[in-house]
Amino acid sequence: MIEKLPLRRLLDVRDAEAARIKPIFESVNIPFSELASRTHELPAKHVPIIVASGPSDSEAAQFLTDLGWQVMVSPNYRFAESGIGRLWEPNPLVETLRSPRMDAKAVDLGAGTGRESVYLASQGWQVTAIDNLSENPERGTVLQSRYAPDSPLVKWVTLDLPSLELVDHIAEVSLLTMFFYWDVDVFLSSVRHLHSQAMILVEVFNEVHHDKTGKPKNESAFVKLGELKKIANGLEILHYEEGELRGRNTTRMIARTP
Ligand SMILES: C[S@@+](CC[C@H](N)C(=O)[O-])C[C@H]1O[C@@H](n2cnc3c(N)ncnc32)[C@H](O)[C@@H]1O
Repeated sequence: MIEKLPLRRLLDVRDAEAARIKPIFESVNIPFSELASRTHELPAKHVPIIVASGPSDSEAAQFLTDLGWQVMVSPNYRFAESGIGRLWEPNPLVETLRSPRMDAKAVDLGAGTGRESVYLASQGWQVTAIDNLSENPERGTVLQSRYAPDSPLVKWVTLDLPSLELVDHIAEVSLLTMFFYWDVDVFLSSVRHLHSQAMILVEVFNEVHHDKTGKPKNESAFVKLGELKKIANGLEILHYEEGELRGRNTTRMIARTP
């Protein structure tokens, strides 16, 4: 089976027209002039970036090195079509999901720039992405136009949670995600409105991260060790893990409604 939206390692920084006319095999094109505004399309900082040698390669390498990436410029590539791929990785928990049913719905709370929402859409989910920042729907829509243009369109909703309106978006949903957005009341009220056998994926900062870094500042935005398991009482917990991942100390949970 052909992987939908595969992960790539090679960054092509030529302008978009050059990349369209002569695509570099298994690369992702982000023109050098757009790099600064598209860093959310890059891998996490611990993953090295390989820049295809060519125009603006050394400027791009310098720019990315200054931001903290390890960068290599490489002439080892060939020109050929290879379809849409990505350098960014969505939250690892979403990659554990099986392909959804045709009409399966998901809600992504605190969706941010939309990477998880767009990834889920690329896999066939009908996603509602909720965030309180009014600029995120546009960013998410642009992200989808680049990475999942032929997939079900993510529906963006600007909502300051908690909000009574959330219930309208939760009905009929078989997947709820909360990644680095946490509010226990929002979690509990969302879970109450999910139907049977709905999946819930959460990654949230925990007290170890807070003690080390002082972040998140707000006590209600992180959990104590073991706390999420207690909060999720009544759900079927399929996976529960606490500790360091990608440089952050977090609590990660996959659960299912009974
Ligand atoms: C740290 S970002 C996480 C983004 C994304 N889920 C991820 O894992 O990369 C947290 C997101 O939650 C959103 N958020 C924070 N408070 C919120 C609230 N009260 N209602 C809705 N969204 C909120 C922020 O705007 C931000 O986009």
